[in-house]
Amino acid sequence: MTDQFTCLGDDNNNISWRKRINPVMTSAIALGAILAVSLPSAVVNAQSTKVSAQGVKALSPDERAVRVVAQMTLNEKIQLVHGNYPKVMENRPADVPVSAGWVPGIERLGIPAQRMTDASLGVAAGHRTIKPATALPSGMLLASTWNPALAYNSGALIGKEARLQGFNIMLAGGVNLARDPRGGRNFEYLGEDPLLAGTLAGYSVKGIQSNNIVSTMKHYVAHAQETGRFVVSSDIDEAALRESDLLAFQKGIEIGDPGSIMCSYNKINGDYGCENAAMLGILKKDWGWPGWVISDWGAVHSTVKAVNAGLDQQAGEELDQHVWYGQMLKDAVASGAVSVEQVDAMATRILRSLYAKGVMDNPVGPPQKLDLKKGKAVARTSAAQGIVLLKNDKGLLPLAATAKRIAVIGAHSDVGVLSGGGSSQVVPEGSLRLDTPPNSPEFVAGVYYHPSSPLAAIRKLAPSADVGYASGEDVAAATALASKSDVVIIFGSQWTTEALDSPLSLDGEQDKLIDAVTGANPKTVVVLETGGPVFMPWLDKAGAVLEAWYSGAGGGEAIADILFGKINPSGRLPVTFPASLSQLPNPEIPGSRLPRPNEARDSQPEPFGAAYPEGSNVGYRWFDKTDAKPLFAFGYGLSYTSFQHADLAFDAKSLTARFKVTNSGGMAGRDTPQLYVKPPKGARRLVGWGIAPLKPGESRSISVAIDPRFIARYELAEKGWLVERGQYDLILAKNAADPGIQVTVELPEMRMPASWRADPNAKSWFAQLD
Ligand code: BGC
Repeated sequence: MTDQFTCLGDDNNNISWRKRINPVMTSAIALGAILAVSLPSAVVNAQSTKVSAQGVKALSPDERAVRVVAQMTLNEKIQLVHGNYPKVMENRPADVPVSAGWVPGIERLGIPAQRMTDASLGVAAGHRTIKPATALPSGMLLASTWNPALAYNSGALIGKEARLQGFNIMLAGGVNLARDPRGGRNFEYLGEDPLLAGTLAGYSVKGIQSNNIVSTMKHYVAHAQETGRFVVSSDIDEAALRESDLLAFQKGIEIGDPGSIMCSYNKINGDYGCENAAMLGILKKDWGWPGWVISDWGAVHSTVKAVNAGLDQQAGEELDQHVWYGQMLKDAVASGAVSVEQVDAMATRILRSLYAKGVMDNPVGPPQKLDLKKGKAVARTSAAQGIVLLKNDKGLLPLAATAKRIAVIGAHSDVGVLSGGGSSQVVPEGSLRLDTPPNSPEFVAGVYYHPSSPLAAIRKLAPSADVGYASGEDVAAATALASKSDVVIIFGSQWTTEALDSPLSLDGEQDKLIDAVTGANPKTVVVLETGGPVFMPWLDKAGAVLEAWYSGAGGGEAIADILFGKINPSGRLPVTFPASLSQLPNPEIPGSRLPRPNEARDSQPEPFGAAYPEGSNVGYRWFDKTDAKPLFAFGYGLSYTSFQHADLAFDAKSLTARFKVTNSGGMAGRDTPQLYVKPPKGARRLVGWGIAPLKPGESRSISVAIDPRFIARYELAEKGWLVERGQYDLILAKNAADPGIQVTVELPEMRMPASWRADPNAKSWFAQLD
């Protein structure tokens, strides 16, 4: 199961390579035992909806599903609960795109084929058979906008493009908390806080599903690191999980109601995610979520145990040791180890979601052309709101119109913006692929630059300036260019990828390059393109720093707009930037020193348990608890204008906080005032935020309804939430480390069962959105 995600773009003529190399990569795919799946010949990919799928629209999705399942043979039910990985599938039917997943339809019952694609950051179907779709910015960038409306819009775009390409199941909705800033997939996720991540994941799924297709939410749960991802056990007690990772899912599910949830590779407290009765029980029983649990690709390890725990569908079965849910499931039914009722329930959950989300009544059609121009506009809007200004000495930014000589240096900024590797990778036409050493992780996954050149966008916005470019490979040439320029814009990149955790530094020798260039010209703006946090050894010497993350199809233009003040930066960090590794709960990534059979990207050590000493105090909460000063705090981000916060008030009965925010500077801008609660014995917790686009001098009143679970403790013995009676600090702040404005509020004791949900009609910050 090594390095599954290869070959993106290797046969696409519209991808350029730097130092082109021989694109032979499939050899890295080690599938273990691949079992051929025999499908009943009558079962073909059916998009038609007839027979019982129609004619009963008045019934609920559950009733419709039950009726159809009652007509299905055991073979048909079993066919529905396992699926292929078309990228490596044997005898792939001609009309099945080379994407992540496929389950054949059942024509006689009008059940369409399930056509699955990865879709975290755009429709990521392998593009040998499908034209590439819009590349959206990374999840980390989206989370930096703190803007649910943008999450919804991005999701709606993904769903639309997916439909147009003939897909009906999106493998999207990544909501794993960034427990460790080195996590290789942090770029796909939405930061370290359960309220922020859960809210944005929920709206993103809602946007996707507004297109009458299904989205997953993933990876359930506590998939906290890539190191040893197939064998690690995340050992975190249930109460701590309920207050962190599970809470992110719970919030996301309440907002987005995903049709499906993907269980994760890792174990949780000793049991694999896809056969973990405790975790899947929380999902289905405690929260009453009615959808189907789909496995991650290669994450299934049993038949009977998995069925009993609550796994409804084995996906990407070629990557598992066996087709556990094919003949083996049939045998388990024959032996009585699994009951027919259990298989019925699994099939019913799948069909129920297909009905509930509109897949059955609005089947997807054959692939059609995409409007990539519109897609780019959506990507660019997110990028413009999610790029974070970290430092701006003496108002270096926005760049003065008087700058005559501008130097642009490094990170292939002449061509495009970096993107992250793995199953979420979207490779638009015109991308640049870097030439990297054969068999290196970079080579296996492919390092791609999306075709949105910052250099070209900068030249466009500074038509009368002399804009020079240096690649940065030659340090002397770069510093020479820097020292004869009025201002320098240097790009620094950190490529991160699925299957590999990453050090907190820029790739290669870029820190040295930036050090030299900032030494040559202090009027240097450093633009970072990273998957997550990095150290900045040159920080004191830089005039300004922008964190641009992986900024997608419109990234280059968005960066230039911010540099020249056409857009006022408004991003806020969704993750803490540590000042040193010793500040982290695990200074070393668990398992990182264990011997591995080889150097391949996904080579696994012997199974091991990973302790996460922070428990529920993920990210900034750990920093608050240990009184550690980060390099940049969660929630941090500057603007070209200034904002004042005032009049913090609280109504204990409705748990609603109110406050005023004013743009006290000279430029229109967007503020994100944050509300934290500090319990009597515990670390700060984000309980809400406002979104305030304000003209100079303008004020706005914002009210935030607090979901009490975000200040509660989870009591295992009581199976419910407890807010202890007492005095709590309510803090209106600019970031997690800002003392801000504090009031002490008296809260009564509150108890809520595990199944408790927030009132969906509660007035909240969402009303403040554009
Ligand atoms: C990833 C999932 C992805 C799946 C299918 C897995 O390796 O963990 O996020 O959806 O592959 O590509």
